[in-house]
Amino acid sequence: MEAYLLEFGNMLLRWLHVIAAIAWIGESIYFVMLDNGLKSPRAAEDKQKGVFGEMWAVHGGGFYHNQKYATAPAKLPDDLHWSFWKAYTTWLSGFALFALLYLASPSIYLVNPSSSWEWAANMTGWQANVAAVLFLLLGWVIYNELCKRISPNMERDGVLSIAVAVMMVVVSYISVHLFAGRAAFLLTGAVMATAMSANVFFWIIPGQRRMVKAMKAGETPNPIDGKRGKQRSVHNTYFTLPVVLLMLSNHYSFMYTHDYAWVIMALFIFAGALIRQFFVLMHQGNIRLAYPAAGAALILVAVWVASPNMQSAAPDSQPTASANANAETQGDDAMATAGADGPIDIARIQVIMNERCVQCHAKQPSHAGFAAAPAGILLDSERHTTIQAQMVKQVVASGYMPLGNITKITDEERATIAAWKPEPL
Ligand code: HEC
Repeated sequence: MEAYLLEFGNMLLRWLHVIAAIAWIGESIYFVMLDNGLKSPRAAEDKQKGVFGEMWAVHGGGFYHNQKYATAPAKLPDDLHWSFWKAYTTWLSGFALFALLYLASPSIYLVNPSSSWEWAANMTGWQANVAAVLFLLLGWVIYNELCKRISPNMERDGVLSIAVAVMMVVVSYISVHLFAGRAAFLLTGAVMATAMSANVFFWIIPGQRRMVKAMKAGETPNPIDGKRGKQRSVHNTYFTLPVVLLMLSNHYSFMYTHDYAWVIMALFIFAGALIRQFFVLMHQGNIRLAYPAAGAALILVAVWVASPNMQSAAPDSQPTASANANAETQGDDAMATAGADGPIDIARIQVIMNERCVQCHAKQPSHAGFAAAPAGILLDSERHTTIQAQMVKQVVASGYMPLGNITKITDEERATIAAWKPEPL
């Protein structure tokens, strides 16, 4: 019952999180488009009022006329529309979701038992939790320091972009070594998403508040507040596409169980930023196909890197799990034993499933915290296992399953599954 309620809570939070994110990112993309699509005002009186650019639009059966002031209008209306709750709601619901799923079961979801950093592979659950929270916090602190030190007044934003790009490669690299693949992708996305929300919370909104306060007092707002807000808002724009991909990646285990998962992650981060750049320029009326072409090229490189034959753990070679802390290296021997024990038929595979998988992959899982078979995958009968054969072979070879190797599958058993040639149904 408790597991069921947790899963329900998880679903409701995810719903809220995705809706809030759509609203926030949608608005953010809209304002970047608006800003870049502004044309000089046509009416002389608008120019006199201090209007710097305008956009006419038709939407939902109505006509809209947006105007942007070079600095500010002579008088501010009282009912100024502010945007911040969408950003805060996205972060808060995202963190709650992370806590409910990952921080609540760190030994299943966070610890990476096959990490080549031995101390990370041996982290306890609470150590992994502390590591994950510190990872998010440090990500923000370092990013924020880079901005403050390299380009405090937007004077070296080019250098800053390169520094942030390098930082993201390092974050990707560290995350796949510290955490299980799925969590590593999520946490790298969360480092960027946390920076985005914190940019709104610590820079954009406070700057705007100071500007409004100055104007209400009849003073000229300090332009540096506007500039700094803009700098952070530009970063947020380039983060959006990569963040959305990293958040969705948990459905695609082939991405994050790979030996070079951090390279795949970095390639997608750059591809997302390049594709975003195309749209930013397009709204300025500047079509530069080189950007999406470069983005697509990086995605192709990722397809190549992620392909099964680039993986050292291709089903017919040695499983990655050989790096497992609790597994001995048996390699070819294991294959030989597998052969010596007779044909690898479904009955033998089912014995392994019953021992290592059905705790979770059954209609009523016995493993604490699971209310139903995860991902709807049942492995509790020969028939069910045969239906999932290809998926089973893939996730076992890549070391993704059993999660956190909680049921301690051996290398020999992995080799048996790799060598299994399932009969068609
Ligand atoms: C501790 C519980 C647990 C154990 C033990 C476990 N799994 Fe899973 N499995 C999960 C969860 C949770 C998911 C869903 C993960 C996700 O959403 O990506 C999953 C997903 C899967 C998937 C779908 C993967 C995908 O990409 O959609 C397959 C296939 C799978 N498991 C096979 C196995 C096999 C084979 C074993 C035994 C060798 C096993 N699992 C052991 C919890 C477990």
